[in-house]
Amino acid sequence: MVTLSSFPLVSLVLIYLSAPGAILVWCAEEFSRNDFPPDFVFGSGTSAYQVEGAAFEDGRTPSIWDTFAHDDGRGPVNPKGIEYYDNFIDELIRNAIRTTYAIFYVMKITYVVGYRKDFTAYADVCFRQFGDRILHWSTFNEANIFVLGGYDVGITPPGRCSPPFGVPNCSKGNSSSEPYIAAHNILLAHASAASLYKNKYQGKQKGLIGINIFAYWLVPYTNATEDVIATQRVNDFFIGWFVNPLVFGDYPDIVKKNAGTRIPAFTNLESQQIKGSFDFLGLNHYATLYIKDNPNKLKMDIRDFNADMAADMIPVHGDTPPDQVRDGGKFMKLVSPFSGLLPLVLIGQQTRRNSTLDDMPRVNYLCGFIGGLLDALRNGSNARGYFTWSFLDVFELLDGYNSAFGLYYVDLDDKDLKRYPKRSAHWYSNFLKGMRIGPDTVFEAETISSLSQSHSSQ
Ligand SMILES: *[C@@H]1O[C@H](CO)[C@@H](O)[C@H](O)[C@H]1NC(C)=O
Ligand SMILES: *[C@@H]1O[C@H](CO)[C@@H](O)[C@H](O)[C@H]1NC(C)=O
Ligand SMILES: *[C@@H]1O[C@H](CO)[C@@H](O)[C@H](O)[C@H]1NC(C)=O
Ligand SMILES: *[C@@H]1O[C@H](CO)[C@@H](O)[C@H](O)[C@H]1NC(C)=O
Ligand SMILES: *[C@@H]1O[C@H](CO)[C@@H](O)[C@H](O)[C@H]1NC(C)=O
Repeated sequence: MVTLSSFPLVSLVLIYLSAPGAILVWCAEEFSRNDFPPDFVFGSGTSAYQVEGAAFEDGRTPSIWDTFAHDDGRGPVNPKGIEYYDNFIDELIRNAIRTTYAIFYVMKITYVVGYRKDFTAYADVCFRQFGDRILHWSTFNEANIFVLGGYDVGITPPGRCSPPFGVPNCSKGNSSSEPYIAAHNILLAHASAASLYKNKYQGKQKGLIGINIFAYWLVPYTNATEDVIATQRVNDFFIGWFVNPLVFGDYPDIVKKNAGTRIPAFTNLESQQIKGSFDFLGLNHYATLYIKDNPNKLKMDIRDFNADMAADMIPVHGDTPPDQVRDGGKFMKLVSPFSGLLPLVLIGQQTRRNSTLDDMPRVNYLCGFIGGLLDALRNGSNARGYFTWSFLDVFELLDGYNSAFGLYYVDLDDKDLKRYPKRSAHWYSNFLKGMRIGPDTVFEAETISSLSQSHSSQ
């Protein structure tokens, strides 16, 4: 491995040398893009809110993230907005980049009846305006996390929760019941938009529609039976809560049992509308957690989603260990109750901000993750695509600019926000061009220097 640690790092100064040099990339086993099916989609994610800013320009109005939900998102369609995305999509196509598009439009009143209609009207505009050029539509991004952050813990828009749960001084909301109600409405809104797409647009536009769910990889804290069962239960809560209705038409039994009257029931008609209302399931997978059974949580007088799971979630410190990254088995098991039924699109990502462009941990992670995906495919997984998070360092929703997940570094001190490819960008680019990646792969790339905000000289 070429390390550049002997370069002197200068405080707050960016050094970027573009001389060609040999870069060695570590990867446990050899593989290449050509080992994947030709129609397997590789990409990289970005997000409108997290890169755009400009909440008040060109007639744009603040999204729920801009205002933390002080408006309800209703209003006439803004032609400038349409034009912006038209240009954006066309530019991507000119550069031979195919587009996957997430709608993700949620108003603060998700739990109010009527949301379904508004969401479908919004989706209709998107399908009509952009659908001729969009291959994958995802109705909601990380729907489960959105609901928990916004209605249970209250740390993300619309910031609702109730004591004793959630952030201090929560004044509006109900952590016990609203997450379940919001999720219910999101599933119905998804089904309604998907049905519109399938009936009105899919025939001519030939795209696919799905929804994205956040998926932890869960490991029992001990091998005790209770912890193994608790791990399955937490999977039923986190993933099954959304995916069971989509695949089977109803929530998992354990979720209904523990949430009791706080979780709404689907009518037969709703159940039929939701069941099968997707072409793919998107899984955003980032982190691993240990799960420990905790039956005492069920004895609490007031419970929220977390308490209903009757388990403790214990973070695995740091990023997912490399041996767990390359674990094709987990991609199979994450959706084992459903596998064989679903084409999947996975989004995975890795290391945090590191004041260097020489982001070897990210390269190793990509290598492990993509290698694991290949193992899973060879064993019959129905995975169809992989997107790294993220293309650029963006404003992370929970972490501002403290975390940087990008393949490209953005110099926020530069007025043009100049971008610099990290080593991971070179690696991914070479991989996508078909280079075999293996334990001793050396490839030519620009020499990568360091960005430093420290005074370290080593
Ligand atoms: C919560 O409210 C109390 C009383 O109004 C106030 O003193 C305290 O600073 C608030 N805490 C937070 C975290 O906002
Ligand atoms: C939350 O909703 C539940 C179920 O409707 C109700 O029993 C409970 O009193 C509500 N809690 C608050 C804080 O409003
Ligand atoms: C659980 O059992 C497996 C297989 O026997 C073993 O590899 C693992 O270390 C055990 N885990 C714990 C936490 O004891
Ligand atoms: C693939 O299947 C083989 C044989 O059943 C098994 O040994 C291996 O662990 C599986 N790998 C994955 C990634 O599931
Ligand atoms: C950046 O990553 C390298 C490699 O893992 C590590 O040694 C170094 O401490 C990291 N630097 C910072 C500032 O986190």
